[in-house]
Amino acid sequence: MATGRTPNQGKGSSRQTGPFPLWAGAAIVILVAAVIVLLGLLAFSIVERRWEAQRPALVVTPIAEWEPNNAVWGQNYPREYESYARTRIDTTKTKFGGAFPRDYLEEDPYQVLLFAGYGFSKEYLQARGHYYAVEDVSKTKRIKTPVNAATCWTCKSTDVPRMMAKMGVKEFYAANFHDLKNEITHPIGCQDCHDPKTMKLRITRPALREAFTAMGRDINEATHQEMRSLVCAQCHSEYYFKTDAAAGLKNYLTFPWHKGTTVEAMLEYYDGIEFSDYVNPISGTPIVKPQHPDYELFLTGIHSYRDISCADCHMPYRTEGGVKFTDHHVQSPLLDISSSCAVCHRWSEDEIRGRVEGIQTKVSEAMMAAEEALVRAHFDIAAAVQAGAMDDVLATARQSVRHAQFRWDYVSATNGMGFHAPQEAMRLLGESANLAQQARLDIARLLGRMGVTTTPQYPDVSTREKAWDVVQTFIQGEGTKLFP
Ligand code: HEC
Ligand code: HEC
Ligand code: HEC
Ligand code: HEC
Repeated sequence: MATGRTPNQGKGSSRQTGPFPLWAGAAIVILVAAVIVLLGLLAFSIVERRWEAQRPALVVTPIAEWEPNNAVWGQNYPREYESYARTRIDTTKTKFGGAFPRDYLEEDPYQVLLFAGYGFSKEYLQARGHYYAVEDVSKTKRIKTPVNAATCWTCKSTDVPRMMAKMGVKEFYAANFHDLKNEITHPIGCQDCHDPKTMKLRITRPALREAFTAMGRDINEATHQEMRSLVCAQCHSEYYFKTDAAAGLKNYLTFPWHKGTTVEAMLEYYDGIEFSDYVNPISGTPIVKPQHPDYELFLTGIHSYRDISCADCHMPYRTEGGVKFTDHHVQSPLLDISSSCAVCHRWSEDEIRGRVEGIQTKVSEAMMAAEEALVRAHFDIAAAVQAGAMDDVLATARQSVRHAQFRWDYVSATNGMGFHAPQEAMRLLGESANLAQQARLDIARLLGRMGVTTTPQYPDVSTREKAWDVVQTFIQGEGTKLFP
């Protein structure tokens, strides 16, 4: 007692005599420490899971090297397969997206004029899910008979890597689409993104690999997180079919990334090789049609900047029976906001939807403004031709229209109505409208110099049918009279 210690500070049995024994204190400290460590681990796993290398799942039945049948892979990976199979649902609708086959030409007859002379003026439907890829490409009016490039199969089927291995890549592209119909039957699936032995993500399409090489990069050095976007970029990118007899290439699928992945870099490349997909018969302008540059536009946006991948939003994690897996029902994230966006953004579902639609509505309005200017520019050039202007004095206006339309379509053809990179989308649409108006100003001045004082009268193109009829007059002859 002379030590002046309180009983609790004593040793031995005196510990057990106090109201709050020391061992209990120690236990609480240890418990709290353990909880902190566990919470830390949990937080770490939440933050890091995007980068987490997926351990190869236990392979029950070995999968053959070129196995194209998704159901066979599904025997080993039922959750991934069953969620993949839901890409069959084609009735979903969002304000600007969803999986139902929205008819763009019906909704927006101007596109019939802008794509005049090209297959997209006949049929242009919104994409459905991966499950329909083979069916939809087989049905579309854009595939020509009896001969069409086999290249069109490239992004549609798990049979493609197998056929490329069998035939050779060059030979595959050079073949006739219709000759491969019996070989290519399985829609986009496991084979396209996974190595059957390790289940690691892999690139199966040569065009993306070659595009990286052309930019001086090695795709094998891509990080795991980049791979979660690059598997999509194999198909969701801008491309063209390269034919070069000297190099023995016919309809060789090529990404125009040699000078970079921006709009300016691609146009510089296309202008350099004087490439065009078609000549618009209204204005006589050689046009390049961008094809869904989803990956390239995404690269210019905030989410790419923050190292977020396509899979983070379009293939969120899900838990079923205590097992965490990747949802393979690739679709609009607006149909599953709580699993996709809300994992990172603690905003309400309504707010998230509202912000997306707010961005999209603005982009869509800017798109219509650019479109209006473009349609008029095509007609103004046609009017100058009807007034007797020759090709040489129209070259500058046509070049402006070519560049304007590429920018408009870069946004229009890209899925997501600008959401993937709102500022870049608005910049391109602003430039597009400006270039189209410049072409119109050039023509107005030209008409002035030619002594034409009346303004062109634009025909009624308010429906798809009316627009189609006007286009036919330009394909078959001098076109609807613009100075009646
Ligand atoms: C930050 C989340 C996010 C990322 C990352 C993302 N997307 Fe999207 N994506 C969206 C949203 C939101 C939409 C708009 C959906 C709608 O309008 O219904 C969309 C739409 C789409 C659509 C059209 C879907 C539809 O139903 O209309 C496709 C295709 C698409 N994205 C592909 C991609 C690809 C490929 C990548 C990667 C290069 C990517 N997305 C990256 C959020 C994302
Ligand atoms: C468009 C590309 C794509 C297709 C097609 C695809 N996957 Fe995946 N898969 C992914 C991505 C991305 C991940 C996430 C991988 C990661 O982050 O490591 C993934 C993950 C997986 C995993 C790891 C476990 C998990 O759920 O995260 C398995 C197993 C798997 N997929 C099986 C399949 C099967 C079976 C099919 C065909 C029915 C298939 N995948 C089709 C892209 C794809
Ligand atoms: C092998 C080529 C290929 C790959 C790989 C691929 N896609 Fe697609 N994707 C397509 C095609 C083709 C369509 C249109 C199918 C149709 O309309 O029949 C499509 C359609 C879509 C749609 C529209 C479906 C809907 O419900 O709105 C989305 C979203 C989409 N893809 C996202 C992705 C994402 C994200 C990835 C990567 C994880 C990816 N795709 C990988 C070729 C591919
Ligand atoms: C993996 C995490 C992640 C996911 C999933 C994700 N985001 Fe983001 N988002 C971010 C980050 C990080 C930023 C950038 C924040 C910053 O740098 O200020 C961002 C930025 C944004 C912004 C811009 C905010 C601003 O103030 O400009 C919007 C809008 C947005 N996200 C919407 C969405 C939507 C919609 C989805 C789902 C389709 C989604 N995000 C999915 C992480 C994510």
